[in-house]
Amino acid sequence: MSSKPKKSNPSKKSSNDREPGVSKAPISVIFFVVTVLLAYWAMMELNTRAGGFNRYVYGPYESYKVVEAVQPGSGDDPIKLGADIYRNICSPCHQASGMGAPGQFPPLAGSDWVNVEGPNRMLRIVLNGLNGPIDVNGETWNAVMPGFGDVIASDEDLAAVISYVRNSWTNEASICTPEEAAAARADSGDRGRAWTATELLALPLEVQ
Ligand code: HEC
Repeated sequence: MSSKPKKSNPSKKSSNDREPGVSKAPISVIFFVVTVLLAYWAMMELNTRAGGFNRYVYGPYESYKVVEAVQPGSGDDPIKLGADIYRNICSPCHQASGMGAPGQFPPLAGSDWVNVEGPNRMLRIVLNGLNGPIDVNGETWNAVMPGFGDVIASDEDLAAVISYVRNSWTNEASICTPEEAAAARADSGDRGRAWTATELLALPLEVQ
């Protein structure tokens, strides 16, 4: 029996021979998951709080008109009232930023349905809802928005939320009066079904 001297195999280093501080362990799964979640959260924060990256928007106020509206002495400004209603009813879908959600809810910020001369069509959308294909800023949406005519029972509240949307983010359009809201509500009467974009386009921009 020949007994060779035991040579250590140079390609097979024992763990003790490894460079100090170098580990072969893959990136910790937890570290990876936490990083991804953090990035997702940051994106959501930006999406909901950045106010459409409008330079006039700060903190919780979505537009400079809202900032003006909450100055001391402004009393019961309809835009301030509208901001509360928007937060409670519309923002779950259209988001606090007014940017909507890709593929689900169209944007109200910069929308060519919002920034029009009169509030008539928007009033009808909020009163009875909207159904089927609609082009918003060159993109086609095909979903369903329920009507809120029963939920927003006061014409003052209805006018306020419309005024708020028409004057927030980058939007600039006329204030909707409670009289206009009442007239649109009376005219819609017991319609009982949602509007289509085609039907809305046949309506005048101003409440008649
Ligand atoms: C449950 C989700 C939901 C809520 C709540 C909601 N909407 Fe909508 N809204 C939609 C969807 C979906 C559409 C597009 C419907 C379609 O494709 O026909 C839409 C479309 C619109 C449009 C026309 C398209 C555009 O982007 O300009 C306006 C204006 C609008 N909504 C205003 C409002 C206002 C104001 C409120 C609150 C009073 C509100 N919505 C609440 C889902 C919602």
